[in-house]
Amino acid sequence: MPSSLDAYLTSALEGAASGRPIADAIRHLCTAAVKVRNTIIEGGTSGDLGGQRGETNSDGDIQKELDVLADKAFLKAAKDSGFAFFGSEEQEGPVRLSEDGDLAIAIDPLDGSSNISTNVSIGTIFSILPVSAEQKANPDTVFRQKGANQLAAGFFTYGPQLHLVLTVGDGTHVFLFSPKFGGFVEQTASVSIEPRAKEFSANMSNYRHWDTHIRNYIDDLLAGAEGPREREFGMRYVGSLVADAYRILTRGGVFLYPGDERKGYQKGRLRLMYEANPVAMLVEQAGGAASDGTRRILDIEPESLHERVPFVFGSKREVERIARYIADSD
Ligand code: AHG
Ligand code: MN
Ligand code: MN
Ligand code: MN
Repeated sequence: MPSSLDAYLTSALEGAASGRPIADAIRHLCTAAVKVRNTIIEGGTSGDLGGQRGETNSDGDIQKELDVLADKAFLKAAKDSGFAFFGSEEQEGPVRLSEDGDLAIAIDPLDGSSNISTNVSIGTIFSILPVSAEQKANPDTVFRQKGANQLAAGFFTYGPQLHLVLTVGDGTHVFLFSPKFGGFVEQTASVSIEPRAKEFSANMSNYRHWDTHIRNYIDDLLAGAEGPREREFGMRYVGSLVADAYRILTRGGVFLYPGDERKGYQKGRLRLMYEANPVAMLVEQAGGAASDGTRRILDIEPESLHERVPFVFGSKREVERIARYIADSD
């Protein structure tokens, strides 16, 4: 019988500051994730979960049925967890939930919305942050904390399997939702990212918009054994961050979503607070690296809940090499 998530939470968080509230929060998040997963499997209420709702969120994304349904499910989980604030891709700004809590959650309720109607893996990404007394008095500062402050981070993937990939600061762990074993059970005790990447992951249709140093880096990968890298590289790109991140955690590789020349894409597509920060913590805890090309993601001081950041993560040596390509070109 594999060990349960409950047993892990008790052992990992016992005695830790905010340990119990974080453990309780993760249990509530799991309840919401199972609800979302069941809705996906059963085809939801309106039939087409990928259907557009006519509104856009504050980041300019068109909201899909499942975006809004997931946002509601995780807002309830955050309330049940006693969080002080909820910061979501699908909400304009911080939502104050309680005066007492001293934790906040930044969340991407449904990641990979463009894949909802194609039956490709999608997910939910979350970041749990401390909230000081001063921040409670000034809610906008709650989601202007750098990623190094995170107390826990994780994502759920709704794919052939429902996984929870989680860190509370003691390594990265994978849990599988298995009704046979009564819930989430440990699948991988401590993920370790392969330091030598054999694959890269990028939306190559944006190639012509990237800066020359990124194009040079990609060109050298594509040149394979005849090029300066003297070996072949594969390419995988799902278009759901959670799916690309889970693959890299399990078999190495490097992901790039660079900024580019297009209006609105100078800082790329991905959001710092509820996509890059949580994935960066998970990747670093698994021995990998995560940057904006040159700066460590977890050191970046955010200015707003929805700000975007160019995002590079995965096998440590590859992330460091990309920084050298950028430095060499300056
Ligand atoms: P979301 O569905 O939460 O808005 O996130 C989508 C993100 C991320 O999942 C993925 O890595 C990226 O968008 C894909 O962007 P492109 O479609 O531009 O490649
Ligand atoms: Mn979106
Ligand atoms: Mn997303
Ligand atoms: Mn989303």
